[in-house]
Amino acid sequence: MIYIKDLAKHEGQEVELKGWNAQKRDSKGLVFMTMRDGTGFVQCIINVETVGNDAFEAAKRLPQESSFSLTGKVVKDDRQFGGYEIHATAFTVIAEAEEYPITPKEHGVDFLMDNRHLWLRSKRQWAIMRVRNEIIYSIHRFFQEKGFIQMDAPIFTGNACEGTSTLFETDYYGEPAYLSQSGQLYGEAMAMAQGLIYTFGPTFRAEKSKTRRHLSEFWMIEPEMAFYDLKMDMDVIEEFIRYVITSVLEKNQMELSVLERDTTYLEKVRAPFIRMKYEDAVSIIKGEKEVNGKTTLQMLEEEIAQLKAEKETLLKDIEDREAKINSGELKKGEVNFNRNKVDQLKNQLKDIEEKEQNIPAWLNSARNFKRGDDFGGSDETVLTKMFGQPVMVYNWPQEVKAFYMKEDEHDKGYAKGVDLLAPEGYGEVVGGGERETDLERLKHKIIEHDLPMQAFEWYLDLRKFGNVPHAGFGLGLERLVAWICGLQHIRETIPFPRSYGRLLP
Ligand code: 4AD
Ligand code: MG
Repeated sequence: MIYIKDLAKHEGQEVELKGWNAQKRDSKGLVFMTMRDGTGFVQCIINVETVGNDAFEAAKRLPQESSFSLTGKVVKDDRQFGGYEIHATAFTVIAEAEEYPITPKEHGVDFLMDNRHLWLRSKRQWAIMRVRNEIIYSIHRFFQEKGFIQMDAPIFTGNACEGTSTLFETDYYGEPAYLSQSGQLYGEAMAMAQGLIYTFGPTFRAEKSKTRRHLSEFWMIEPEMAFYDLKMDMDVIEEFIRYVITSVLEKNQMELSVLERDTTYLEKVRAPFIRMKYEDAVSIIKGEKEVNGKTTLQMLEEEIAQLKAEKETLLKDIEDREAKINSGELKKGEVNFNRNKVDQLKNQLKDIEEKEQNIPAWLNSARNFKRGDDFGGSDETVLTKMFGQPVMVYNWPQEVKAFYMKEDEHDKGYAKGVDLLAPEGYGEVVGGGERETDLERLKHKIIEHDLPMQAFEWYLDLRKFGNVPHAGFGLGLERLVAWICGLQHIRETIPFPRSYGRLLP
């Protein structure tokens, strides 16, 4: 038996494949069955003359997602996905499936989410998971090649790290414990032992809101570096994100094309990232400062005009296809094809209408942004739309950032924190910064943030024994997957998403 990914090595030979029926159609003595085997998709042509009547009839009847094995000749065909097709010589059913709920027609998102355990088999979800895999692998490569030590931070924790409002509380032998919001504090302890470390683990945030950027359970990568300052931290963030995206661009072209990902913005990570202070970012968001001769207001107005044009094209296309369907001149296959296409176009139309509705709200919130506030999702979107490439915003007002952030000695009231904002509306993918090293100030901040001092005694020890400047950051894996794959919503970036209102499957 061989795998679909290796077909090129077997051109012209007869091979045995095992897999599932992803899709099929038949016409006059031929069945065209798309087999998927986990490593790829390939069209298999099952000819009644070659496989015999029984095998042919079995193939013709075989429901979607049934498993089967097949022997056949590997034939080059550039028009096919993957570049090959199989001319079957024998065909055996392994297990016939019941009627499969996910058909090639368009389905609603809730339905697909309820069937996530099956939805994962679709070509699109398959492609996303493969990109996710390469991202994970390249993250480890990046840090390992630089000599960072991977550490596992605990998941049961006795204290908050990123504010108390998003803690999941659980019972730990009769004591309250919290599911980890971040491995950072433990990472800091380990960095004092190993110098350069990174964590890669599950992270939990109890956020009672449904947004396209938030999960209740996500994976975070948190490097921590002894003797690093904010500038060095930003250099690592930039090199790291460039490395991971370049790896995906090199290795996952096939997956990105399945996702119909326009990689123009991804390619831009090769150029230096934009770096700006919070105050400058605010001036841009509020429309007080232009970028390339444009204010945010002008940029958004142009976008509204563009959406309008896109909408008209879509409406025309839908109208034309509906007229064709109703004309009675099309064959059954063509009618089905056009019906699916119309459903697809209507979904696209919904997306556009949603965007059209969002833009005035963004404009409003950008104009009324209060200097000193944290950025909301729409502020990040508006800001990054002005650049079309990653933007690092640093020196944030201390009040909006976590207790452990170091105050900038030359810029009082501002914390040496940094957020990396991805373009195309993806927003914050990385948050990090230089850590407060002053013991007294740190104690003061713990009190100010209303955190229990006793739970932080161990953390304060790090400032008593061999205190050094240090910095780090956290990357949200799913946010990066969403950006790289160009996904509208974070729910497709992780095999089984956990978010407000969803615990199954
Ligand atoms: O900005 P955050 O909260 O920073 C920290 O947790 C720091 N302790 C990191 C550090 O300096 N070591 O979270 C870091 C990143 C965010 O930029 C975002 O990408 C992701 O984690 N993230 C989420 N991803 C999905 N769903 C959520 N609810 C997320 N919350 C944060
Ligand atoms: Mg953050």
